[in-house]
Amino acid sequence: MAIGARGGSFPPGFLWGVAGSGYQIEGAWDADGKGPSIWDAFVRREGAVLHGDTGDRACDALAPTHQAGDLALLARLGVGASIFSVQWPRVQPTGRGRAVPRGLDRYRRHVDGLLAAGVRPALTLHHWELPQALQERGGWADRDTVHRFVEYASIVHAALGDRVPIWIPQNEPETFARVGHVDGKHAPGLREPRLGLVVAHHLLLANGLATASMRERAAASSWQNAFGPVINLSPFRPANPRSAADRAAAARLDGERNRFFLDALFHGRYPADVLRRKRAAGRDGGLDAVRDGDLAAIATRPDFLGINYYRSERVAPEGCARTPTLQKPEGETTAAGWPVDPAGLRETLVRVRDGWTGELPLVVTENGTSCRDTVDPEGRCKDPERIDFLRRHLREARRAIVADGVPLRGYVVWSLLDNFEWESGYRERFGLVHVDYPTGRRTPKDSFDWYRARIAANAVD
Ligand code: FCB
Repeated sequence: MAIGARGGSFPPGFLWGVAGSGYQIEGAWDADGKGPSIWDAFVRREGAVLHGDTGDRACDALAPTHQAGDLALLARLGVGASIFSVQWPRVQPTGRGRAVPRGLDRYRRHVDGLLAAGVRPALTLHHWELPQALQERGGWADRDTVHRFVEYASIVHAALGDRVPIWIPQNEPETFARVGHVDGKHAPGLREPRLGLVVAHHLLLANGLATASMRERAAASSWQNAFGPVINLSPFRPANPRSAADRAAAARLDGERNRFFLDALFHGRYPADVLRRKRAAGRDGGLDAVRDGDLAAIATRPDFLGINYYRSERVAPEGCARTPTLQKPEGETTAAGWPVDPAGLRETLVRVRDGWTGELPLVVTENGTSCRDTVDPEGRCKDPERIDFLRRHLREARRAIVADGVPLRGYVVWSLLDNFEWESGYRERFGLVHVDYPTGRRTPKDSFDWYRARIAANAVD
């Protein structure tokens, strides 16, 4: 395989995919006995989501009206895998007790449809859809939720473990813990500094314990399952590389948002610099949540690591407390104002391999961009910015494999369909397929055809 400065091919068997998540696409928020999730509650708060948008209907994915059509789109795209999430309150409406058969049936139908289309299902157990009833008992701040999650994982795994090859217990614990519990911008909308660590710790523990218990059942049943967490990583760069204060601020965010998760999962410890600051913060640090034996359980070896990569950040200290703060991007940004940094993807993959994961298979489980896409009068949706974004990231992913020897086994685009983008509602369109929300009509964008050609060629142009 030649190392081209530009495009080139991927190793045989490279896994191409698309990703989505339950609340963002499914709608049917109270159908078939489903209980409310924290997102169902959060979107009803005044001002929580842009324009008051909700996921009540979203793309109506998995509904009989769209299921066959969406599966046909996946088959046409030719992807090898599709990541979707099970919404916990569809299975256990209050987060405990017996499973609702109709809830599980919905996902069983979806899985069977994917398999029939030749697409490997990759199942996320928690893409932030905690049952609201558990939130009312303390949610992820309460250690009992960890045990509830392991029970829920066990129910879903017992039902679908024979046919789902790829299992992701937790998606982006960092985002969920910080944005939902410290910044208050995502569900459950809390603003408590202490919960940053407490919730992240409980999510990591839940990931480890659920992995161990599902793996045991898989071994006893001879099921071929791969288990791996998905974490979000970004390079944090000093706004001014010559400033020691900026470098320290960037290192601090790198500790809290990257190394905290990598060290726990792969070294069975939290980083010393983060621990020092959390200790100094006393009760606000949240360290009382960590008990003997937890880190050993968190460091249960996964079969792969999923990395969601979107951007890098520039950091500088601000205010009297010299708080490390993200700075306005200097260069290119996406429609949503996110910095574009394809080289940061290769840098991240190499760093993770060298520092933490070694020969463990890595997968880019989310990468993509939002554009303000529209369908023109001829029925075409042109999105050259997305094609350019994906092409440049894929080239860097390929370089990480070919030039640096990173065991990167797959690459997944977020997302197949335009969908509910959390606090930004329906403004941000991340799909390879445009969705007209009032009618539900799907229109594949130019990027759909571009990605399809890349998959068919197993190469980036
Ligand atoms: C990730 C989330 C996903 C989606 C993309 C754009 O952080 O996992 O749900 O919102 O960002």
